[in-house]
Amino acid sequence: MSNILSVPITDKLTYIGVNDRTTQLFENMWPLENGVSYNSYLITDEKTALLDTVKVNRMDVFLEKLDEALEGRNLDYLVIQHMEPDHSGAIETVMELYPNVKLVGNKKTREFLKNYYDIEEESFIEVVEGDKLELGETNLTFYMTPMVHWPESMVSFDEKNGILYSQDIFGSFGALGGPIFDDEINWDLYLPETIRYYTNIVGKYSKQVQIAMKKLGALDIKMVCAVHGPIWRDNPGRIIDLYAKLANYETEEGVVVVYGSMYGNTEKMAETIARSLSANGIKNIKLYDVSKTHLSYLLSDLWRYDGIVLGSCTYNNGVFPLMQNLLQTLLKQKMSNHTLAVFGSYGWGGGSVRDLMKFAEESKYDLVETTADAKGSATKEDLELCKQIGKEMADILKAKRA
Ligand code: FEO
Repeated sequence: MSNILSVPITDKLTYIGVNDRTTQLFENMWPLENGVSYNSYLITDEKTALLDTVKVNRMDVFLEKLDEALEGRNLDYLVIQHMEPDHSGAIETVMELYPNVKLVGNKKTREFLKNYYDIEEESFIEVVEGDKLELGETNLTFYMTPMVHWPESMVSFDEKNGILYSQDIFGSFGALGGPIFDDEINWDLYLPETIRYYTNIVGKYSKQVQIAMKKLGALDIKMVCAVHGPIWRDNPGRIIDLYAKLANYETEEGVVVVYGSMYGNTEKMAETIARSLSANGIKNIKLYDVSKTHLSYLLSDLWRYDGIVLGSCTYNNGVFPLMQNLLQTLLKQKMSNHTLAVFGSYGWGGGSVRDLMKFAEESKYDLVETTADAKGSATKEDLELCKQIGKEMADILKAKRA
């Protein structure tokens, strides 16, 4: 076979995924400055099986690749591992083009097919945990991974070849611009995009990721084929270890300082704290203006490093609205295992530090005792408190890692 668009992975497996550099925001929320790939795989054994499709906006390229990889053969099965439309968008068209294809999924997949696409197929093959689909030399075994990322999510394992088709699990942002295998990519470029994908999309379900990974840990995995990001054929342990670390809320030493400031008074306090952190031995310090940096990047770094400093001016008697959005997101994502310090400023009645303290209570992070709450512009005494916040945070983090 001469592949032009599709990429052979083994003699019976072909990559037919596509890149999306047009969509600005994933889920219409998370920036895609480096694009994203929607991966799809075709197994051509005695039977043929397609694993997942792609988002509808890239369907034309996908169908060309599918046609090329099939080399005139029929499509026997479409395994639907996940129904989010970035993977299910081409199902109806595939069914039209290959009318004999049998859909394979679980009971919940069936409900989603009806609700999203009004598809009700008599021939639907409903599978449960441990069921197998025989394709010839290749057999797929199905494992349910509920809530990673949706209730119907499941993975498929080719035991003979050790290939795990992992749907969203082990995925990454970033289009595959040439390199598609882990031994071809520059990991320094993909690591931040993988952490951002995990924390933005999957992080809320970290407990379910832990359960899924425990289950998958029993398998002899030699290759990971996820639905976003690179194919891990050389060192699948690298992505498995990274996901395990993120799902278990393991952090690196460092502090992320995020502030909301209208006229620079709160910013001045943030800079004083950041300087104190550095003077007290913290190497990784990220200082962000909540109005300038998208929540997606804040969440990624906040998850990654163990210290968090949040500061806010007072706006309408409470915390700055963009900071409020960040606080709500951190609580919803159930981010855990961090040390927190808070500070703020106000013009007359105050309220931002009160709201930040409420967040501190709800988040259950370890809290640095000292706070600072400046009236108007920070006084010398307020800035001394900021220096103290930096020192206390640095001392706590160093002691935790000692
Ligand atoms: Fe990539 Fe949850 O879809």
